[in-house]
Amino acid sequence: MMIDLTAQEPIPEAGVQAALALLRSGKMHRYGEASGVPAEAAMLESEFAASLGRRYAVGLNSCGSTMFLALKCLDVGPGDTVLSNCFTLAPVPGAVAHAGAALRLVDVTDDLTIDLDDLERKAAEGGAKMLLLSHMRGHIADMTRVTDICARHGIGLVEDCAHTMGAGWEGKPTGTFGAVGCFSLQSYKHANGGEGGLLVTDDDDIAARAVLHSGSYMHWRGHQVRPPDEVFERWKYVTPNFSLRMSNLVAAIVRPQMGQPLQDRCTRWNERYHWLAEGLARLPGVYLPQRDAREQYVQSSIQFLVRERSAEQMRHFVHLAAKGGVNVKWFGADDPVGFTSNWKSWRYADMRQDLPQAARVLAGLCDVRIPLTLSRADCEAIVAVIGRALADAQQTQALA
Ligand SMILES: Cc1ncc(COP(=O)(O)O)c(C=O)c1O
Repeated sequence: MMIDLTAQEPIPEAGVQAALALLRSGKMHRYGEASGVPAEAAMLESEFAASLGRRYAVGLNSCGSTMFLALKCLDVGPGDTVLSNCFTLAPVPGAVAHAGAALRLVDVTDDLTIDLDDLERKAAEGGAKMLLLSHMRGHIADMTRVTDICARHGIGLVEDCAHTMGAGWEGKPTGTFGAVGCFSLQSYKHANGGEGGLLVTDDDDIAARAVLHSGSYMHWRGHQVRPPDEVFERWKYVTPNFSLRMSNLVAAIVRPQMGQPLQDRCTRWNERYHWLAEGLARLPGVYLPQRDAREQYVQSSIQFLVRERSAEQMRHFVHLAAKGGVNVKWFGADDPVGFTSNWKSWRYADMRQDLPQAARVLAGLCDVRIPLTLSRADCEAIVAVIGRALADAQQTQALA
């Protein structure tokens, strides 16, 4: 058996047609100087902002650059400290480095959310300007407590929603709790544009700065949802153009994936997640993160913790699972592999972090993608392969 966990569904026919129409017109750049017709990128921005109940959305070329711009537009720079959860992926510390700020990592719980007691402690130390909260792999912390901690300590909040498009906390969408929400349109995320990012905010100055930084030149009126002209006038001479614009082609492909199609996909992801979770939870030595009833998650991947295995046994398990056709990613590896890395390999940042739980949690943390192409039988087969690989890895070690 070999299941392609990177499989994607085709782009909806309406997206293919919109892309073809764009290719035929040749008008690939979002800022047309002559046409009165709103660009695909501008329409995606207004539709996305409306779907979240936020005033503005700004289209960018990735979620990584969106997080960087969010920090820039909140005046984070050299000399500032940004708190961020240690369980995340490389674009998050990368965005902090891009802004020139120092990274202070916050611990992770067994349920894979940010450790709120550690956050409280590190916030209370003073000195942190911002929390860049990554809803990593779709695990959403208690947002009531997160926002309360940030408010009490005067810390701004930016949300990394690369894994939570369509998700929420107590009925409020992620990306709307802090000053800025950052979304990804990369393949493997919840809407597939190949690459792309969306910055959402209610703040006039942040929106205008993000538009100018993104590389709008003086074409800000090409944005349907935008602050008044006087806000742009305030910023136009002092905001460098970083050329991080969204391509019209990405927007054309993504627009037909939003709204009801996105909701339908979220339902199908969670259906597959529950099939896998039921099976994995029954395997000896496996812990499935517990979820708060207030969390409206969308799981396009599944995480589980393997208890009481050595690093050697974990390596062997990953190897045996791969031989069985299932690509399990392991967050406890010493070296970064493929898309997966852990905080110990982000050595451009300060490595003197105090994270009492991270080593133990990450040592057993495994991750499997959930393509929508999986059937129930595929999910059962995946659980069987993982179960066998776990048992065999333990057996071999016992014999050795
Ligand atoms: C947790 C997390 N945040 C942010 C990103 C950045 O997304 P992008 O690839 O659109 O820059 C990723 C990408 O995989 C991610 O995993």
